[in-house]
Amino acid sequence: MAVSQQLAGRLALVTGGGRGIGKSICELFARNGASVVVADISIDNASSVANNLATDSGKDIKHHSYKVDVGDANSVKQMVKEARELYSRAPCIAVNSAGITKDGFMVAMEESSFDDVIRVNLKGTYLVTQAISYAMLDDGIQNGSIINLGSIAGKVGNIGQCNYAASKAGVEGLTKTAAKELAMHGIRCNTVLPGFIRTPMTETVPEKVISMMKKLIPAGRAGEPEEVAEACLFLASNQSSYITGTTIEVTGGLFA
Ligand SMILES: NC(=O)c1ccc[n+]([C@@H]2O[C@H](COP(=O)([O-])OP(=O)(O)OC[C@H]3O[C@@H](n4cnc5c(N)ncnc54)[C@H](O)[C@@H]3O)[C@@H](O)[C@H]2O)c1
Repeated sequence: MAVSQQLAGRLALVTGGGRGIGKSICELFARNGASVVVADISIDNASSVANNLATDSGKDIKHHSYKVDVGDANSVKQMVKEARELYSRAPCIAVNSAGITKDGFMVAMEESSFDDVIRVNLKGTYLVTQAISYAMLDDGIQNGSIINLGSIAGKVGNIGQCNYAASKAGVEGLTKTAAKELAMHGIRCNTVLPGFIRTPMTETVPEKVISMMKKLIPAGRAGEPEEVAEACLFLASNQSSYITGTTIEVTGGLFA
């Protein structure tokens, strides 16, 4: 079967690639001709994803898995360094999909729950964006694309998620700023805001809440991780060559 190759010959790094939305992004990028570094705090999940990605040996596509804690600056720096050594170039595409939730009402939220979520979702996105931008600049990459996963909760808030909503609002501000600083160097930065997507992260949401959510979603259903991956593919490819500093909502119309 002929496959489209929008990312032929390109190298992509995807954090949180071990499952959920990140996994779908790795799969779609690989089917489109990219070599993919699947990075996750769970090396077992990352390896299992990397081992099953599409390859085309004729086109020199190689995938690797990498254990990283995105909230740890040394871990992030080491990952980018090793990826550059492995492929003899910096990735020209990076997706920050690693994320966590630690929900609770704001008045009762433990300080540690706030800190943990900010550390992974916001600081992690900053650390990876910074390290990858540095590597892209150092290698003179002219068509870089950095895609950060925000959330519709960052735009409108969500009961029980003051930490998560704050982290995701921060991701959008960080991404817009990085876009302004890097545009002149040929590196684009954009945010994708998923709404309610069926992944392991949302598996534990009670059925009562899910049916309430579905009533609010104009499309009448939850989204699939592959539908978020398609928006990331567009932003990674040259089809979006003049798009930077913007946000694409993948929400079925929720809170549009
Ligand atoms: N699922 C949704 O409805 C939804 C909605 C809005 C935004 N998002 C965002 O999309 C992204 C992906 O969400 P998902 O639903 O696929 O979640 P998920 O929980 O299924 O996957 C997240 C991945 O991130 C990894 N991870 C967690 N902490 C890490 C760390 N410190 N370092 C490296 N990797 C780490 C996990 O191991 C996991 O593989 C997240 O940023 C999430 O906040 C998801």
